[in-house]
Amino acid sequence: MSELLVVEDLTVTFPTTRGPVDVVKGVSFTVGRDETVGIVGESGSGKSMTSLAIMGLLPKGARTSGSIRLNGAELLGRPDRELRRLRGDRMSMVFQDPLSSLNPYYTVGLQIEEVYRTHRGRSRKAARKVAVEALRQVGLPDAERRVDYYPHQFSGGQRQRVMIAMALVCSPELLIADEPTTALDVTVQAQILRLLAELRRQSGTGMVFITHDLAVISSIATRVLVMRQGEPVEYGTAEQIFAEPRHDYTRMLLESIPRIDDPLAEPASDQVIS
Ligand SMILES: Nc1ncnc2c1ncn2[C@@H]1O[C@H](COP(=O)(O)OP(=O)(O)OP(=O)(O)O)[C@@H](O)[C@H]1O
Ligand SMILES: [Mg+2]
Repeated sequence: MSELLVVEDLTVTFPTTRGPVDVVKGVSFTVGRDETVGIVGESGSGKSMTSLAIMGLLPKGARTSGSIRLNGAELLGRPDRELRRLRGDRMSMVFQDPLSSLNPYYTVGLQIEEVYRTHRGRSRKAARKVAVEALRQVGLPDAERRVDYYPHQFSGGQRQRVMIAMALVCSPELLIADEPTTALDVTVQAQILRLLAELRRQSGTGMVFITHDLAVISSIATRVLVMRQGEPVEYGTAEQIFAEPRHDYTRMLLESIPRIDDPLAEPASDQVIS
């Protein structure tokens, strides 16, 4: 598996009134082509800051050190004009909150077309065809009609699909999905996970999948990075993390996954009175 993304010793620092604070502290991981790497950790552990650093979208004032290479080319310190060319084209992100990242005043079709036209410079007509196809690809029924819907006319799960369609419209090599299923019920969540796995298989996109839920990671990732308070706690293959976690924190995350054979969740069959 060749390396698509290499993150080395990444640190993200914010100036505060009490001095600089590191919100990501020396994080390293690698994503191969056609591979999904999971990042897990509690709220505030630095998952989103790590992904925003990769995309070059950190809030103003943030400072970075270390290295982030996409296909061997350094991204840290690149001028914004160059990063803008890469974003939406070679690397895309599905943001944690789809409502705040879709513009409520434009139809989803127009927003997807815009991404496509920015990078491919094609006509409105060509872009529209691509937008409808992208919505179809993420399993939205009636895509020809819904391409003219506004974001609020979709359900939460459908909006996630729209975001994924928008992220994939230029067939990026790298897709970062930041908690794309957190707000969804388990059935829709499973559908989105299947969809992402399918898209990865079809187009060989490398993925970073961010969640605070280790159970979700188990079904999608080959490698896992566990973070806590900005620090990398543990990094290894999914098998290793699940079978022999080395750190108490990872063990604690694993123990919080409800199990089907949990005696409290389901009565044992010999206890069932028929
Ligand atoms: N603009 C900012 N200035 C200073 N600190 C910030 C800023 N934005 C975020 N932080 C801090 O950075 C840390 C990491 O935040 P981040 O959003 O990466 O967490 P997360 O792991 O994505 O959490 P969640 O699961 O809640 O999304 C948090 O402690 C947060 O308070
Ligand atoms: Mg986050």
